[in-house]
Amino acid sequence: MPIIAPSLLASNFLRLDDELKMINESKADWIHIDVMDGRFVPNIAIGLPVIAAMRPATKKIFDVHLMILEPERYAEDFRKAGADRLTVHLEACTHLHRNIQQIKSLGMEAGVALNPSTPVELLSDILHDLDSVLVMSVNPGFGGQQFIPHTFQKIRNLRRMIHDRGLSTHIELDGGVTVENCTSLVKSGADVLVAGNTVFSSKDPIATIHSLKNCD
Ligand code: DX5
Ligand code: ZN
Repeated sequence: MPIIAPSLLASNFLRLDDELKMINESKADWIHIDVMDGRFVPNIAIGLPVIAAMRPATKKIFDVHLMILEPERYAEDFRKAGADRLTVHLEACTHLHRNIQQIKSLGMEAGVALNPSTPVELLSDILHDLDSVLVMSVNPGFGGQQFIPHTFQKIRNLRRMIHDRGLSTHIELDGGVTVENCTSLVKSGADVLVAGNTVFSSKDPIATIHSLKNCD
């Protein structure tokens, strides 16, 4: 069964308390929180004070996806705000190895995200240090975009790399995940599914999370 991570970007920000209650009652494992800086991606979303405010309302894992430049400047602040896992973009990090070590030394799980045009092979010399790889199946910055089909090939290649090295690294899929494509995604090798609009625009989000959980 895949790990399901509803993406708060698609939630109702005026009713975050209710959204978190819904997630608490659901089979969701992680809560995916998108952080943007208006520089690495052309958008700005949730920030540190909002994460800190949400922390007491749930025990679910806070999976923070940093779409920001110079993430090392804020890693400790995100830990203090309540992040359990931190994912940085390969394209935003000149010293990726140092970034990953910093995240781990702060007691968080560490992930690396790849834009759609970034080859998975670039992770060859860092993969063994990672808890997860986040494969973007849309260009980062916005929810509700269409899934890029080439992502399937990337997931298969990455799963082979992980398998060949005897690792247990998670493959997290982010962007355009639906109840329709989730089974093929899991079959290709993804084991964490992030879903924004599919969950929060559905009539029954708890049932939708349940369906995603049963995608295998
Ligand atoms: C996009 C974000 C995603 C986004 C996914 O930059 O990283 O997490 O919320 O939204 P959907 O699932 O609607 O494509
Ligand atoms: Zn994300």
